[in-house]
Amino acid sequence: MSKADVIVGIQWGDEGKGKIVDKLAQEYDMVCRSQGGHNAGHTIWVDGKRYALHLIPSGILNPKAINIIGNGVVLNPDSIIKEMEQFDNLEGRIFISDKAHLNLPYHSLIDMARERLKGDAAIGTTGKGIGPAYADKINRVGHRADELLDPKTLSKNILNYFAQNKVIFEALEVEVPNEAELLEQLEYYNQKLGKFIANTTNMVWEAIEDGKKILLEGAQGTMLDIDHGTYPYVTSSATVSAGACTGLGISPKDIGVVTGIVKAYTTRVGNGPFPTEDFTEAGETMADVGKEVGTTTGRGRRCGWFDAVAVRYASRLNGCDQLSLMKLDVLDGFETIKICVAYEVDGKVIDYVPSNMENIKPIYEDIAGWDSVVGCREFDQLPQTAKQYIQRIEELTKTKVGIISTSPEREDTIIR
Ligand code: IMP
Repeated sequence: MSKADVIVGIQWGDEGKGKIVDKLAQEYDMVCRSQGGHNAGHTIWVDGKRYALHLIPSGILNPKAINIIGNGVVLNPDSIIKEMEQFDNLEGRIFISDKAHLNLPYHSLIDMARERLKGDAAIGTTGKGIGPAYADKINRVGHRADELLDPKTLSKNILNYFAQNKVIFEALEVEVPNEAELLEQLEYYNQKLGKFIANTTNMVWEAIEDGKKILLEGAQGTMLDIDHGTYPYVTSSATVSAGACTGLGISPKDIGVVTGIVKAYTTRVGNGPFPTEDFTEAGETMADVGKEVGTTTGRGRRCGWFDAVAVRYASRLNGCDQLSLMKLDVLDGFETIKICVAYEVDGKVIDYVPSNMENIKPIYEDIAGWDSVVGCREFDQLPQTAKQYIQRIEELTKTKVGIISTSPEREDTIIR
């Protein structure tokens, strides 16, 4: 028997999970996605070739690993077909849960229409139809991957769904799909994806029984979790480690080591509260040096200081055994580095994350900066003040920092 290790985002996504998952995926027999959809994204370079991944787990770059897209994912057929075209011979290497819900082109149209109608209150979604696809699932009117195997019936059911919700679609200005075109599209999806659809729950159970090494690759981050994040400015899935259980069909007892990925500072893309956002030159420097542009939408990321209150909360929610501190080099050259140690809300100092994160004033502690950490591959090589920063993060978040990334290079990673 084995346990499944989890990689989970601890802030608002984009923490640099890609680098760690890519590094670790080399050691795993099975790599699984359990939530989210093609709103996620990272780019991986291998031997000078660029791969853009949105739905396909990073294990695809390890020829020996099996990749699972779990039932908790919302699957956009066009996106995965395009991603698959980057690779040869995927049969037997990638499996899509028959229970994964479909994220179809109309979901994205609904998403964009709703954002438009919200005006100033828009969430700032990726426009990929994630919310509407999960809403259909919870509303019990969604369609699952196994329905792709019978395009005629699926096409009929989708048209019925449009007929039942005519008023809503008219208000959103979303057109009813053309019957012949819809059937043709679904037949194409079946032809491309049909052979990859499987009972992945059984496959993961078998891998556990056979003692295989399993990695669960989270998407987005804890502060975007549908229950525990900055609602309503969140994504529509359970991004915490517990979501990996329902999103794959495994029990909490099957979970092994949980590694939380955090940046040495904080970023957020999209709207919503962000207590430590920095609007000064410091925030701009983080954005420039850290190349903080979203991989899926190309939007600039908002930047700010490390929020130890939010990270302590996220670490507890996920049961993190360790943190992996990413992009420490982006803070190189700062004279002083701020770290948020508490919040002030309505004149009261609190040390926890309240359900409403609007109107929080961060309380900072200053820590001396350092010249450069680039290329450090051992903890002892780090400048003294960088070590102090990491130790302070450990104290405040009550979590060990077990991995530190000191440059984008795979090898510039300290494992403690
Ligand atoms: P949605 O997931 O497209 O519905 O977007 C909801 C919120 O989550 C928006 O603020 C997005 O910017 C954010 N979001 C979704 N996916 C990601 C991601 O992969 N990285 C960072 N933010 C994301």
